[in-house]
Amino acid sequence: MGISGKKILVLISGGIAAYKINYLIRNIIKQGGETQVILTPDAEQFVSKLTLATLSKKPVFSDFYGPNGEWNSHVEMALWADAIVVAPCTANTLAKMVNGICDNLVIATYLSAKCPVFIAPAMDLDMYQHPSTKLNIQKAKEYGHHIIPAENGELASGLIGQGRMAEPENILNTLNNHFDTAYKKSLDNKKVLITAGPTYEAIDPVRFIGNHSSGKMGFALAEESAKRGAKVLLITGPTTLDIQNPNVKIIRITSAKEMLNKVMEHFQNMDIAIASAAVADYAPKEVAEEKIKKNDDSLILELVKNPDILKTMGENKTKQLLVGFALETQNEEENAKLKLAKKNLDFIVLNSLRDNGAGFKKDTNKIKIISKTTVTEYNLKSKNEVAKDILDAVENMLHTK
Ligand code: C5P
Repeated sequence: MGISGKKILVLISGGIAAYKINYLIRNIIKQGGETQVILTPDAEQFVSKLTLATLSKKPVFSDFYGPNGEWNSHVEMALWADAIVVAPCTANTLAKMVNGICDNLVIATYLSAKCPVFIAPAMDLDMYQHPSTKLNIQKAKEYGHHIIPAENGELASGLIGQGRMAEPENILNTLNNHFDTAYKKSLDNKKVLITAGPTYEAIDPVRFIGNHSSGKMGFALAEESAKRGAKVLLITGPTTLDIQNPNVKIIRITSAKEMLNKVMEHFQNMDIAIASAAVADYAPKEVAEEKIKKNDDSLILELVKNPDILKTMGENKTKQLLVGFALETQNEEENAKLKLAKKNLDFIVLNSLRDNGAGFKKDTNKIKIISKTTVTEYNLKSKNEVAKDILDAVENMLHTK
């Protein structure tokens, strides 16, 4: 399953993130895949050919010709591959790829290939935002290539923003998912609505009340649903996360009221709705038109209750299977069961803050799934694995409904 037994051509261009590729190669081999590494001439400044050759258990190439005049056949290597990964993909290499500027072995091999191509861009934030880069990414998508988006964080320049190459682990996940034929398309053509992330409630033009929700759980659910063949509408509060999947439509909102409006616009058309958003319970009664000045020693903000989006869905439920989340600190199961009834849910996913590694901003979660008649407890798992458990429960319930 996954990349096991697959032949993966790794094309490295000259960015500082190239140092991370050793880890990618090592793990492809560890997971039973085979790799052939090719570098651009510039990439040689960033990584050692000897290290790459040792890890990939094969000679690596950066030139059309070997030291004894032998030809490193780009055509043969391209046709050998089950997938190509270009990582890191610099602005320069990306531009050459989409325009067919074939002045090195990496581009010649890329142009000769027929297999799926995965591109992990890496560059400084302004280069990533430049219209020409955006256009080139768009073109690559139009060619049917898969973009593994750059991540947010500190860049080699010292600036902070989007441009860091996706972590090797994410590149591996993307490849594994691509090759995973285990998916039985069990949610084929089902329409799934997912709410995710925090909501921000404005205080004045520059301030808001928010929370630390990362949106990771909701995004993992969206990705997993799409893999199972669903058409997903992901309505999310502010987050830097993104999903490149034609079956996931993302609507980005800011406040609870905006989330409610978007949710209710689409809810009747859905088969399944999962509310994983951490919606702010209260919002300022009035939003100041101008930035509030600091005059007095204290400031009183009057807050009013936000709409309960999930409860509203529950009240308007016709055919939909409805799932909510609960984060409780005391009488967990009892409170979760009350919520299940109050919000007219089919089941509720209980996260416990007591469990180390579970909850906000973390990559792992430990849950119980509670329906009217059953309580199922799960181990601590990655949020991607938790998403699978939740969707398995959804599918079971769909079959018995
Ligand atoms: O009532 P409580 O906030 O604990 O319920 C949590 C569940 O309800 C979550 O599924 C959350 O996404 C949803 N919720 C909502 N709108 C709110 C508050 C919570 O959709 N205003």
